[in-house]
Amino acid sequence: MATVKLTINNQPQTLDVDPDMPLLWAIRDVVGLTGTKFGCGIGQCGACTVHLDGAPIRSCSVPVSAAKGQKITTIEGLSKNADHPVQKAWIEHQVPQCGYCQSGQIMSAVALLKQVPKPTDADIDAAMQGNICRCGTYVRVRQAIHTASA
Ligand code: FES
Repeated sequence: MATVKLTINNQPQTLDVDPDMPLLWAIRDVVGLTGTKFGCGIGQCGACTVHLDGAPIRSCSVPVSAAKGQKITTIEGLSKNADHPVQKAWIEHQVPQCGYCQSGQIMSAVALLKQVPKPTDADIDAAMQGNICRCGTYVRVRQAIHTASA
């Protein structure tokens, strides 16, 4: 066990955890923020995407110790009332079907728009290709990103 201090959604956290624990489990099971989802556990599906110091990462594949001293943002930290522009666009376009992958999709979309405020379809496809959706919501994801960028 080790003590890991980090900040999640602007709240300082001191966690007594196995330093090799995936950050995803620390977020979900230790801190209790369950909006971030477990999909594949091997960095391939994007369901577990959070921001580490503003950059999107696969939290299933990053040990909690690697996030020491850093700022993590989860889907819960984007806004208080689901009123972040990307979340509003997601609602407007009714993007989710089953919804499971959508917090990861949104976190990747927010990171994209920070880097590229007016992305093309190709920019969107390149940035979002690591976020898998079994319901096939990709067309609506793209539309919502365009709306959020307007
Ligand atoms: Fe992390 Fe799939 S659960 S990428």
